[in-house]
Amino acid sequence: MANRKQIKFGALIHGVGGNVSAWRHPEVPADASVNFKFYTQQAQTAEAGKFDLVFIADGLYINEKSIPHFLNRFEPITILSALAAVTSKIGLVGTLSSSYSEPFTVARQFGSLDHISGGRAGWNVVTSPLEGSASNFSKTDHPTHDERYKIAEEYLQVTRGLWDSWEDDAFVRDKESGVFFDPAKLHTLNHKGEYFAVQGPLNIARSKQGHPVIFQAGSSESGKKLAGKAADAVFTGHERIEDAKAFYKDVKDRAVAEGRSVDDIVILPGIGPIIGRTEEEAEAKYQELAALVTIENALNYLGRFFEHHDFSQYPLDEPFPELGDLGHNSFRSGTDKIKQNAKEQNLTLRQVALQSATPRGQFIGTPEKVADLIQQWHEEGAADGFIIHSSIPSGLNDFVELVVPILQERGVYRTEYEADTLRGNLGLPIPANRYSKEAEKVNS
Ligand SMILES: Cc1cc2nc3c(=O)[nH]c(=O)nc-3n(C[C@H](O)[C@H](O)[C@H](O)COP(=O)(O)O)c2cc1C
Repeated sequence: MANRKQIKFGALIHGVGGNVSAWRHPEVPADASVNFKFYTQQAQTAEAGKFDLVFIADGLYINEKSIPHFLNRFEPITILSALAAVTSKIGLVGTLSSSYSEPFTVARQFGSLDHISGGRAGWNVVTSPLEGSASNFSKTDHPTHDERYKIAEEYLQVTRGLWDSWEDDAFVRDKESGVFFDPAKLHTLNHKGEYFAVQGPLNIARSKQGHPVIFQAGSSESGKKLAGKAADAVFTGHERIEDAKAFYKDVKDRAVAEGRSVDDIVILPGIGPIIGRTEEEAEAKYQELAALVTIENALNYLGRFFEHHDFSQYPLDEPFPELGDLGHNSFRSGTDKIKQNAKEQNLTLRQVALQSATPRGQFIGTPEKVADLIQQWHEEGAADGFIIHSSIPSGLNDFVELVVPILQERGVYRTEYEADTLRGNLGLPIPANRYSKEAEKVNS
């Protein structure tokens, strides 16, 4: 599946990093996760590099073993609303859980962000992997993996319906005649489903991109099914190009089977490039980060994916323990992959923990090498673009200063934004208002 479109980029802004110990690196402001200036600088760097979007991840449960960034960080909609005011073109994508929120509130929040930013909002719909989340939302049970995805599907039907409450020309605002809106263009949803009963209408109109862009980040069977049906973009993670290609084809095929076009959904694997002027310099940067991680930190980091399992009970230098179904009801696709890799490569617990804590991806090396790999993944149908994450702030700067110009020079990456909405830059269609569409059909 050759890809002839331009490459897309997102920047994951992740405070003190997804790495357990990156906060100790001399370059990282130790309070970065709650430092607005830091977020502003990163977003503006990504915008200077003509990135499509910034991405804010999130979670709803912490304990003392959580990584530093998770312990004390901004709520996504709040930080994105602030970033909307200090940027002008870049998309603003935030994570919000469909298992622990209400569709009416969330449709309003993203509708508002979409207006505040002039059509640059995106919502990463996650189902919340962590069981402890229930205890923070007055619930006794965390829904099962499959049920969380069923909830998410209905949730998206509701929010999409609410976003169409007002047809695009519903607000007349004629001061002379005193007509504020056209009642024929206001629609009440009256949704009654298995999980939600929402009347509507929503108290905010559509933005110029119609609906905020819907991201999805789960990679299990249920996750891919939801993506094919309802997502505009998928944030995923693959170490090998073969796996990325298979995932890419699978999700695009699912979208087509749902009556959509292959271009209606963009697939964006996350990568953590480490750039050096020479291979040795890049390797030294990786080793500097890896050296900050203690084995205790790495075991805690690994444990979170398996419902905060205590891995300190096992011998470190023996084969990775047999865990049965543990992890199946949380980060299923991720934990399946960890178990499979450990078995296939005969890894010890120490090796698995350290690899998880500081993954040594392929995208380490000179700017040319990283640009070549990015271009190869894109051209060979493994990705429409990438979410760039870095544990240290200079990672994004290096990428923008050293890799972006190479890709621009080769004509595979934009030198200027094509549009001022996120949909426009990602090349995604603007969803027609369902009621306007119906009206068109009746008239034709
Ligand atoms: C690249 C990637 C990014 C994710 N980001 C988040 C996130 O920010 N917040 C969250 O609660 N879950 C996040 N998840 C978890 C997924 O939304 C999902 O709950 C989890 O992967 C389990 O579903 P799955 O088995 O379908 O993958 C992410 C998953 C992936 C693969």
